[in-house]
Amino acid sequence: MVYKNISKIGTLFAVITSNDFKRRNSMKLITAIIKPFKLDDVRKALVDLGIEGMTVTEVKGFGRQKGHTEVYRGAEYEVNFIPKIQIDLVLKDDLLDTATSAIVEASKTDKVGDGKIFVFDVQGAIRIRTGEKNAEAL
Ligand SMILES: Nc1ncnc2c1ncn2[C@@H]1O[C@H](COP(=O)(O)OP(=O)(O)OP(=O)(O)O)[C@@H](O)[C@H]1O
Ligand SMILES: [Mg+2]
Repeated sequence: MVYKNISKIGTLFAVITSNDFKRRNSMKLITAIIKPFKLDDVRKALVDLGIEGMTVTEVKGFGRQKGHTEVYRGAEYEVNFIPKIQIDLVLKDDLLDTATSAIVEASKTDKVGDGKIFVFDVQGAIRIRTGEKNAEAL
């Protein structure tokens, strides 16, 4: 009986510490598609939050207007790809809300095509030079 309880406590402790470990190491990937001329404002806003790295790619895409600023009858099936900037940013969970709000604030023009933010769970990260892992590697 006593042994059973001790092992239960042991299991509980293991669950708590492993959850704690996960929390400390939990990371998210933000992929933000923005208007190219907003890149500098977004970069500044993110650096001000203490973010230490990001990847930027020139991309093309379309949203629900299919690349038209106005949709004309008969033009529904024609799609134009509009140049956009994609920002990929991995950060610790606790910065997610502040970072996404900062991106929205810095890239909003209130016109169509302002972009989108997607958020993904990140399984792992490694800093190649040092071998540091997960949140330590960001
Ligand atoms: N569902 C999607 N999946 C992947 N990329 C998308 C998606 N929706 C939009 N994008 C990307 O985001 C860019 C900007 O999208 P946009 O802001 O026009 O979305 P929207 O849904 O049309 O909203 P709005 O009505 O404000 O324009 C697109 O050019 C495309 O690169
Ligand atoms: Mg659109």
